[in-house]
Amino acid sequence: MDLRRALRRLYGLSGYAVAGLVTPYLLLFAGDAGVPVTVNRPLPGAPHAPPAVALAIDVALICGFGLQHSVMAMPAWKRWLARRLPPSLERTTYVLAASLVLVGAMAAWQPIDGVVWHVDGPWAHVLTAGYVAGFALVYAATLWLDHVRLLGLRQAWLDAPEPETGDGPGDAAALKVTGPYRFVRHPLMTGLLMVFWYTPHMTWSQLVWAAAMTGYVVVGTVHEERALVRRFGDAYRAYARLTPMVIPSLIPALTRYRARRRPAGPALVVRRPDIEFTADGPTVWYADNVVATAMLTAYSALFPSLERFMADELRAALPDIRDPELARAVRDFVGQESMHAHEHARSLAGLAGLGYRIAGLERWFAWVTRCVLRPLTRHVARPICATAGSLAIFAGVEHWTAVMAEAVLRQPYPQIYSPVAALYYWHAAEEIEHKSVVADALAHLGRSYLVRIAMFLSGTLAFGLLSLAGTLAILVQIPALQGRGPVGWLLYPARVVWDGVAFCLVREKLTWHIVWGTLRYLVPFHHPDGFGRGLDLGPRSAGRDAAPDPLAAAGLARAIAAGAAPRALRRADA
Ligand SMILES: [Fe+2]
Ligand SMILES: [Fe+2]
Repeated sequence: MDLRRALRRLYGLSGYAVAGLVTPYLLLFAGDAGVPVTVNRPLPGAPHAPPAVALAIDVALICGFGLQHSVMAMPAWKRWLARRLPPSLERTTYVLAASLVLVGAMAAWQPIDGVVWHVDGPWAHVLTAGYVAGFALVYAATLWLDHVRLLGLRQAWLDAPEPETGDGPGDAAALKVTGPYRFVRHPLMTGLLMVFWYTPHMTWSQLVWAAAMTGYVVVGTVHEERALVRRFGDAYRAYARLTPMVIPSLIPALTRYRARRRPAGPALVVRRPDIEFTADGPTVWYADNVVATAMLTAYSALFPSLERFMADELRAALPDIRDPELARAVRDFVGQESMHAHEHARSLAGLAGLGYRIAGLERWFAWVTRCVLRPLTRHVARPICATAGSLAIFAGVEHWTAVMAEAVLRQPYPQIYSPVAALYYWHAAEEIEHKSVVADALAHLGRSYLVRIAMFLSGTLAFGLLSLAGTLAILVQIPALQGRGPVGWLLYPARVVWDGVAFCLVREKLTWHIVWGTLRYLVPFHHPDGFGRGLDLGPRSAGRDAAPDPLAAAGLARAIAAGAAPRALRRADA
């Protein structure tokens, strides 16, 4: 082996060794634990400076650390270094310089008197445990990476410089996300922050150190993100959309875990209901209730545009869904919703035959969807939280359609032949069948509780306002269609109140379903299938063999009794 190569390797080893000693010392120094010189204890014999002087010295030391980083990142410095050292030693030089500057800063650090917080009892143990966990996480994250490369030894040993990259979770061309990187994009930074901040006894000295180092962590993370985007492109952007940067969120991880372990429901079937929308049947076609009839009639005008919009958004989310079984469920869901939109559009002729002036309402809903809802989703929800933003809205809307479907199907009614009633029973059955698909897709993307609830509230507000506007637009038409005289018109408001109370509080109890549905949705690990199935830890059962939901089966039976003839489509037709 030639001497130059041996020296290069020795240089690499020395950088690796120095960093291997400085890193644990730094963590112990910051936590004021187990080493002679710490953030609260100066070198023995060093003069004790008054607080203002100590602060000035400490700030200067921190700036020196920043200066070293900035200078070594400058292209001029890199060119200067390249003329003197082989490129394979650049990383080791950087690691050595950073370590030596840190050693200098720790040696010259001036403690500042005073306590910011002091915690006793069990919380002190919690904070200490957080410190220890942060310490472990720093090591887990660096060992998980190629830490030999991270500290420059690999490059120096093999004499193989690497193109400028970040310290990402994969060193191959393809981005690989494993271990702690599944929960947070920068676990090393997470660990450092835990070490700096989790202490039961925070002095001013520690606070200044922690605040300054947090600043460097933030700056370093931002730089690293840019490097990773340059290196991995869209793959990294998608990863960044789905995974928090530094602060891990337990809720998406646990929700995703629950969704994965949940036994699959029966595979969705896309059916064509084969309803002939003649103008047969009563005008007030739902249970002789004007309020319920008006609301559901208005939905026939709303659903063609709304469900197409939802199908488009779910289709756009498919590339982000990496679980093939879930992707298949989403495709079947899109098939069912597209068929709903199609059949509701067909039903408009039948409703017009019953006398409803509904075409204008349908055009208005289409305009609102095109000019308000789609732009809001595209320009607000998606930029903030990507695909998960729009999925969270539709998870909320699907929650409401399932809640309403259950409210309607739980209430038995004598069968009256009405093509529109047949349409709704078929629709309600499929809403129950596919109620968990969007929630599962959202859990798969692992968005935060806050996003889920914020988008749920936005979706609920939009759906609620459109429901109200549509219901009122139909309600005012009903007296004329019933051929009411003046007395009938005078009594009509009382009829509306009576039917409204029956629909909302007595028979379908829609209000209670809505209140209970809202409370359920606010639970952090809410799943449409409820707690029991969601916590089932057995292996995921084969979807095709699972039993159908009894309420959905009852809905289909009612649809058939009311005149539908649902037939399953081959997948190619769906
Ligand atoms: Fe639907
Ligand atoms: Fe649906």
